[in-house]
Parts: sequence; C-alpha cells; structure tokens
Amino acid sequence: MSKNELRHRPKTKQRGALTSNGPDSSNWPYAHGRMDPYAKVIGISVLVITSALIGIFRYQQYLRDIVITPLDSPRIILDNSSSPDVNPEKFWGTYRPHTYFGMKSRHKTSPVFGLMWMIQLTNRMPPPLRHWCNQGDGLEGYIWQMHDGVSFGIQEIREKLYTVKTEFVKQAGGSHGGDWSARISFVPKDPSTPVVLSSFFYAALDGDNGKLEPVLVNNRLRSVRGSHEGLGDFELLLPKVESSGQKESYLVTYANQLDQLEDISIAGMGVEAWDSARTLPYFSLAGRRVPKDVPGPNYIVKQVTTTLPFTMEVVFQSASFADRQNQLSGNVFSSLLEQRKKEFNDRFEETFRLNEKEYSEREINFAKAALSNMLGGIGYFYGSSLVQSSYNREPVSYWEAPLYTAVPSRPFFPRGFLWDEGFHNLLISAWDQEISKDIIGHWMDLMNTEGWIPREQILGPEARKKVPSEFVVQRNTNANPPTFFLPLQRLIKNMIKSNKQEDKVYLTALYPRLKTWFNYYNTSQNGKLPFTYRWHGRDPTVTKQLNPLTLASGLDDYPRASHPTDEERHVDLRCWIAFAAGVMADIARTLGQDWQEYEATHKLLSDNKLLDKLHWSPKGQQLEKPKPPPNPKHPHNSFNMDMDKIRVVLSEPTLQFVNALGYVSLFPFLLRIVDVESPKLNYILRDITDPNKLWTDYGLRSISRSSKFYGRYNTEHDPPYWRGPIWINMNYLCLSALRHYSLLPGPYQDKAKSVYEDLRKNVVQNIIKEYERTGYIWENYHDKTGEGKGSHPFTGWSALVVLIMAEKY
Ligand SMILES: *[C@@H]1O[C@H](CO)[C@@H](O)[C@H](O)[C@H]1NC(C)=O
Ligand SMILES: *[C@@H]1O[C@H](CO)[C@@H](O)[C@H](O)[C@H]1NC(C)=O
Repeated sequence: MSKNELRHRPKTKQRGALTSNGPDSSNWPYAHGRMDPYAKVIGISVLVITSALIGIFRYQQYLRDIVITPLDSPRIILDNSSSPDVNPEKFWGTYRPHTYFGMKSRHKTSPVFGLMWMIQLTNRMPPPLRHWCNQGDGLEGYIWQMHDGVSFGIQEIREKLYTVKTEFVKQAGGSHGGDWSARISFVPKDPSTPVVLSSFFYAALDGDNGKLEPVLVNNRLRSVRGSHEGLGDFELLLPKVESSGQKESYLVTYANQLDQLEDISIAGMGVEAWDSARTLPYFSLAGRRVPKDVPGPNYIVKQVTTTLPFTMEVVFQSASFADRQNQLSGNVFSSLLEQRKKEFNDRFEETFRLNEKEYSEREINFAKAALSNMLGGIGYFYGSSLVQSSYNREPVSYWEAPLYTAVPSRPFFPRGFLWDEGFHNLLISAWDQEISKDIIGHWMDLMNTEGWIPREQILGPEARKKVPSEFVVQRNTNANPPTFFLPLQRLIKNMIKSNKQEDKVYLTALYPRLKTWFNYYNTSQNGKLPFTYRWHGRDPTVTKQLNPLTLASGLDDYPRASHPTDEERHVDLRCWIAFAAGVMADIARTLGQDWQEYEATHKLLSDNKLLDKLHWSPKGQQLEKPKPPPNPKHPHNSFNMDMDKIRVVLSEPTLQFVNALGYVSLFPFLLRIVDVESPKLNYILRDITDPNKLWTDYGLRSISRSSKFYGRYNTEHDPPYWRGPIWINMNYLCLSALRHYSLLPGPYQDKAKSVYEDLRKNVVQNIIKEYERTGYIWENYHDKTGEGKGSHPFTGWSALVVLIMAEKY
C-alpha cells in the first residue's frame, strides 16, 4: 500500500521516433519526371524501404507489447482452479471487502449479493445510505469478530444509536458450491430511543451475465430466482422479517455496471407516508423500473422498514443441491453457526496458543478479530490493470485475469497491493496454508515476460471506482519489495515435507516464476556500481515534493537522495534482494535445482564488509546540505492558478549518504544480514533503544527524532507518512530480527533479548489500547501519543500483531 500513489501522476513521455525529419520533398531528386533508367531502382528501393518500415513497425509493436505479454511458463492457478468442481469450499465468500457485507462467488462474472441500510425519519434528506465501507460514515467501529476465510463469519458494525450484526454460514452440497445464508440483526443501543430503519438486501448481475427474476406474492418480494453460467440455477429467499409494524417494498431494475448499485437505489426511491396521520415521510423503493431496451432486470432489491430491533435472514440455495435435508435458516442456521464458532475457537488456540501465554479473554478476542478481519477482507477481483512501459505512448491494458487477495484496508485500500500481500500472508499462512498458496499463486500468475508484477491491482469496475483514472497506470520499471519470499520460506518447506502430489504440481509451476521474478529485481533494479541496487520511478522533475517520493520502495516519503539519479544506491532494496537470494537458494536446494548462483549472490550481498563499504555511514562524517527555504512559493502571476508551494534548490547537490536514521537504515538488521558478532549490531541496538532516536513506548518510529526529516512535510499538503509514525510491518520485522539475534549465541544476545521483550510488550499493548479506545485497528500509530492514525480499519499488516502476540516469526 502506498498512500501517495493517489497523488502520483505518471508523465506521458514525448517520443520523437515517429516524427523524425525525413528528406525534404523539394530536394527529392526524382520529383521532376526524369524516368526510365531509374524506374527499376526506385521500385526496388521502395520495396526495400517498405519492408524495412514494416520491420520497424513490427519491432515497435513488439516493444510496445512486451509489458503486456504474460510470462511463458505454466500457470499456478488453472482456469478451473477456482471453479466449484475443483474448489467448492471456497467458491462462495465475502469476496467484496469494500462492502460492509457482500457475498459473491469466485466466478469472473459472478452475481453479487449485499446489504445496504438507512436510518429513516431523520432530518437528513435523503438520509445517508450505508453500503461501501467509508470512513466518512463515522461508524464507531466494524470488524469481523470471527471469520475462518472459508465457511462462516460474524461481524459487528457499531453505529452511534444501534449495532448491526452480520453472520453468515455455508453448507456444502450440489455441484455449484452449495448454499449460504446470512442473518442480519439491527439492535438499538438504548431501547427507549426508537429508531426506524430500512434494510436493503440485493442481488445483482454483472452486466448481462445471467438472468434474474423477482418472485412476488401479493406484491411482496418473496425471493429472487436466477441463473448464471457458473452458478447454474439458484434462488435467494427473502423470508418475512421477525418484527411488528414493518413496511416492505422492492426495486426491480437494471444496472449497467456493478459500481452503480448505490446510485440506482437512491434514484429508485420515492417519498411515502410513514404513519396514518401522514405527517412523517420516509423513503421507499419504487417497484418495477426496468428500461425497455435491456434484456431484463439484473438488479433486484428488497427493502424492509421497521422500528428496531429486528432480524432478517436471507437464504441462498443452489438448485443443483438436490438432497438438501434442511433449509439453512432458523435453528438449523443457529446450530451450524455455533458449531463453526467452536471449531474456530479451538483452532485459534491450537494455532496461536494465546491462552497459554496468559493473555486475557479480552485480548484474545481482539486477536481473533484482527485475524478475522484480514480473512474477511479477502476479495476476488477480475479485470485488467492499465500499464505503461517506455515504449508505450499511452497506457495499455494488461491481460484480464482473476486476483484472489487480501486487502490492506476495507474502506481505503480495498484492492491488492504487492508488498502488503507478502506481509498479509505471514498471518494468513499461519492460519490456513491453502488460502495463502491460492493467493500467492494468483499474484505470481500476474507476472509478465519481464518478470514484472504490477504492484497495485485495480481490477474491475468496483475497484476502479475507488481510484481516479489518471492514477491507475502502473509502470514496469517500478518494482516493489519482494515480500512474498517472507511467507514462502516456510510455506515451501511445509509443501516439500507434506510430499503431496498437488503440492509438487504447485511447486513445479511456482519455481520458474520465482526465478524470473528474482531475475527481474536482480537485473532491472541494479545501480551503477556493481552489486548496488536502486529503486526506480523517482521523478527528478517534480517540483512540489521536497524529496521526490520513492513509491516503489513502499516507504513513499522516507527521505532519499534529494536529486534522483542512477547513482543512487538503496540499502533496503539491496537487503531485500540478498534476502530473496537466500530464500531462492534454499528453495532451489530442496527442489534439487541449481542453487549455487543464488547462494553466491546471497553471500555476496550479505557480505558485511562490502555492505559497510557501500552503505555504512560513519558517524560524524556527514556532509550537510543546505535546507531548502521553508515554503517557497510560485512567483505570483495572475494567470497562474496553481499556487501550491514548490521546492527550490539553493546549492548544487553533491553525492553523499542520506543521513536519516530510520527504518531504511535498519534493513541489514531487519532482514538478519548483519553478522551476529558484528559490533554494528551493538550500534543498531543502541539506536533502536534511544528515545531520542527510534524508541517510543508504542513501538519503533520510522525516523529518528533527531533527524532533520523527522515529522517534516514533504509537500505542502501531505503530512509525514514514513517520517515519524510507527508502522506495524516494520516493527514485526524488527521483533523477528531481535528474536533471531536473541536465540543465537553472540556478544549481544542478552541485549537483543531484553529489547525484544520490551518492544513486543509496547507494540501489543498500544494496539490493543487504541482498539479499545477508538474501535479500530489503524494504519500507523503516532510516535508521541501512540494514537492510531491514517486509514481505519486497517487490518492489513497491522494485524501482524496476532503473530507478535503468538511469537510466530
Ligand atoms: C482442470 O483443468 C485441467 C487443465 O486444463 C485439467 O487437466 C483438469 O482435469 C481439470 N479439472 C477438472 C476437475 O475439471
Ligand atoms: C545477480 O546479479 C549479479 C550481477 O549484478 C550477478 O553477478 C549474479 O549472478 C546475479 N544472481 C543471480 C542469482 O542471478
């Protein structure tokens, strides 16, 4: 995840090749009618030139297509891998993490189902409709309290006046992934304050893929019947709600695209009288509204309006499930849910052993929710990225493909991010290796022939709607940390140990992809000096950032060289590649492949002497560069509407170390490259524990408090992002390294152990404290107060707190 991605506007390159100056026609010697002796020559020349031009044209087309050419290697996830025949358990799920509650299948054109709600009889006109997770809704908190990623989930959504509970459970049967049911309850917090609320439950097709028809009894919507190529025939039962004095209505209509459901619902509402005195108006859906020129309805909503509390159930039944014993509702639903809860609780303790570590029930429930919201945040997306290479004048479409992935934040980043996903799968694989293998397989299949994987995946209309179109384009020069090697290290060992046929097939497809992926980093991201590496995509021409962003590194505004050039060398990237080479050597060895070159690269890049020579900045020898003046402005100009502050360079830049102690400086330690005996380890431990540098009572801050970059704005508008706040993925890596050094005999073993214990306690206690205080798990934490900051809920890598509690590294 890279927040500033949204502000990064890729420049379209101006290319001169196609407009190069040809010979001026007035000088053309054959232009004036001298004929014969030359005619043949001309003919041949034309032929030669034409074929040369065709050749050039083809070659240019080839160059333009490289970026969108899939890697020629067997895929890990086959076309039928997610189908209900091959993988029925995971066919249905809460795969729309951007909604408060939404279900869909893992078919590329799956119909979708979901919940909206709206408070009635208020003075807001029209009252806000809840549907997509939105920080602006100001909820007091929402989180999956339990979710196993496959078969059931229980979520609590806290509004100011009432609580919404969404529970779902699945039942296997038939040949289309079986049935599922959802129970949705609205409970007022204070029963003496009456709340009138409308709940909306809908079924929608993705365009014209399939059929939907309402089943009406006495003009009440009783169910929706449908059919779809991947789902067969199905029915969504919408039973009568348990409540008195309710009103019902419905909408049967058509939506061009799935991102329009909310707007169409609002447009399909009229005002009606709530009470017999006709003094109170409320909003009610208008019935059948199907435009003439469409094949039929594809969007059907049932609205129930009532005074809280009330509970409703929706029951999805697959027609191919012929021998169903019971409808999945009422007591059948309740007892199956109870069974799943028990299984979840047992498995949670078996996996993470938090009882054994003497955490309280309250803390364990927090950890269950953190894990569950990551699992409940797994989505299934289908579509293509917009990408661009130096050969494309305009962005081009990547091939269409599915992506099964967790997301960093349901409201704010509800899509796949490459480096986040490696961290996510540390936790996911601890819970369910099959889910992780599936996720990593999907990502690896998105690799192009160069070994590049676009780092932000914005697939399908629902995902696109969240990102302005000019920010969608991904560039093949820009990498992102290869964090999948973190979970793969253990996953691959386990696969080899299990010795299952399906795992062998998986590894056979995975390995060549990993090789190509590694090679992409090792060749395209290298620096000018041998064995140095550099993040690409820093824009030397930007004027509105004091220090041009390094989005590829994932640490957007973390200070780097003030003037991006190809002479930069980035120690974090070097360490990522050293680490990846080590894992590759391991994998290759266990698979009986050539491992020597990876081992050699790993050794070379981990060579502490070489590392020191290239990257160690000796204290006291720092060259200071004059600071840019505070907030210089554009010259005033009545035609210049762009009044943002820009950077001004006051003196010629010189090559030097960027002396900003922080997460990047720690990388040789974080990825365990520093030798256990190295005195550098001592310096690092000293800097980590210094409250004037990185230590806080809540975790390690991203930049030393004594750095000139600490807490500084990089642009006029963007508050410090990786310049002070505490990030949990980096604290996880740090704890993992401390643990490593505390287990190996060496001069700093005891020190590492005590730092480990203090840091672990600080991180865990603060995240729990903030969760209880605010209702949320946060994107990062303030280094002075420990307060949660940024987007929320953020149960991407902040959920690694579960592994920290469990001491699983
Ligand atoms: C899935 O597809 C593969 C390759 O196309 C095929 O070999 C396999 O039999 C298919 N599996 C099922 C259950 O259809
Ligand atoms: C990585 O690149 C270096 C050259 O920069 C090369 O010497 C080394 O063999 C490469 N490693 C692998 C595993 O390909």
